Amino acid sequence: MQILQLLCLLLACLLSPSLVRGQGHVLDKPVTELCLTCLCEAMSGCNATAICTSQEKGICGIFRITWAYWVDAGKLTVGGEQPDSEEAFVNCANDPHCAADSVQNYMKKFNQDCNGDGEMDCHDYARIHRMGAYGCTREMPYKYRTTFEDCIENYEEQGLGDE
Ligand SMILES: *[C@@H]1O[C@H](CO)[C@@H](O)[C@H](O)[C@H]1NC(C)=O
Repeated sequence: MQILQLLCLLLACLLSPSLVRGQGHVLDKPVTELCLTCLCEAMSGCNATAICTSQEKGICGIFRITWAYWVDAGKLTVGGEQPDSEEAFVNCANDPHCAADSVQNYMKKFNQDCNGDGEMDCHDYARIHRMGAYGCTREMPYKYRTTFEDCIENYEEQGLGDE
């Protein structure tokens, strides 16, 4: 129960549309809600304050998405905004639902077995998310890796793990 309340705090209230649509669209949405939670936990502590941490590179939102990532993810926009409008990227990255859908699209596109364990799962998505599709076999930065792994282990201990 406790973990479900936590999930609601972190996700349901932010991402309810994707929660509703998530089931049964495994290929459309390869990343589970738990995985999304641990990705945002490791990237930003799931701090949903609209913010870009780098003006030049534009690293924005709960998943700390870059402009290039957003482009690769198909330039999703909020509220019918034109993808080539000046604010389209920042508005999407700072919108938890649009940002989560961007993560889904990015993983759908770049899905691969980065750690060579024979599976494509959240451990691979964590690498792809942080280091990009072409650098995902590298070591993860220490703090990112430990935050992410603690989050996953915490869910697995509670029997809520995906794998
Ligand atoms: C979330 O981020 C904002 C902006 O960086 C910061 O002011 C705020 O303290 C953060 N909230 C938490 C709970 O860490």
